[in-house]
Amino acid sequence: MYTEGKTIGGYLELQLPEGKEHYPSFIHLNTGRNAFEYLLRIKKYSLVYLPYFSCEVLMEPLRKLKIPYRFYHIDRKLEPLINFEPEFNSCLMYPNYFGIKTETVRQLSTRVDHLIIDNSQAFFQLPVTGVDTFYSCRKFFGVPDGAYLYTESNTRLSLESDISAYRCSHLIKSIDLSIETGYYDYLKNNIGLGNNAIKKMSVLSRRMLCGIDYEACRKIRNENFEHLHTAFSGINELSIDLKNIDGPMAYPLLLPGKGLRAALIAKRIFIASYWPNVLEWTSEEMFENYLANNLLALPIDHRYSRSDMDQIIQIIRKL
Ligand SMILES: Cc1ncc(COP(=O)(O)O)c(C=O)c1O
Repeated sequence: MYTEGKTIGGYLELQLPEGKEHYPSFIHLNTGRNAFEYLLRIKKYSLVYLPYFSCEVLMEPLRKLKIPYRFYHIDRKLEPLINFEPEFNSCLMYPNYFGIKTETVRQLSTRVDHLIIDNSQAFFQLPVTGVDTFYSCRKFFGVPDGAYLYTESNTRLSLESDISAYRCSHLIKSIDLSIETGYYDYLKNNIGLGNNAIKKMSVLSRRMLCGIDYEACRKIRNENFEHLHTAFSGINELSIDLKNIDGPMAYPLLLPGKGLRAALIAKRIFIASYWPNVLEWTSEEMFENYLANNLLALPIDHRYSRSDMDQIIQIIRKL
């Protein structure tokens, strides 16, 4: 349709498939950490409880807003140990770890008043009605940034839109060159996401998110996860209930014995560390320290088939 001022002619723009977003009605923001900040700003909490086993970047909003925080422990099922009386006007943040803690989220929602759920590792899990929940898109899809926020609050911050055009080099290089060639740019662009103002999701990220076949991605994740679980459930120190799992982020395999990650990397199976900062925040006798050292988050995403999973299984069995 013609609108006044519309450009006609000139070069052709990048064409992306015009599908549907997964969470069109949620608040669209630039990053997961900024979605967390958005909540802290509108709810005006004066204290935040967060787990020792957390991603470092979630500290950014706490530092920015100068909100005091306290760490809590999780048990061997990755469930929060709430052996304290929450202070007045505080909130408790809990991540749906790897997308496998949906039942825990449901239970927490019945007993914690001011709960914030971080679904950055659980993109496909809908929020529990009434529970503030945020999502980060780049953990699941090839997008430079982007986050969704679900809240029942009517308070809104007025924000300008972010621009993602200069954060895409790793995505482009991954296609034309290789994942490894784009890795330096990935690190650089990651750093660029730090300490940014809260902004609306960029038009580019939104358009990219509209082009994704979410059902296909969810299905492949489930199949790959189940296949790895069949192979590893007997040796995995984490107990996993398949019943509550839908489109998880990774298969978390907890095995004793350091050095497995390095051995896998040597076989070109790249496994991120969750999270190096936890080693600084904890001491060796703490479970969270053991997790940060030994947990292997095996990739199960839409790029991989059953035979890729078989390859991972074989290599781990040999090691
Ligand atoms: C569990 C978790 N939550 C939130 C975030 C922050 O997401 P974003 O990078 O979109 O700010 C991260 C890592 O970046 C994370 O690992």
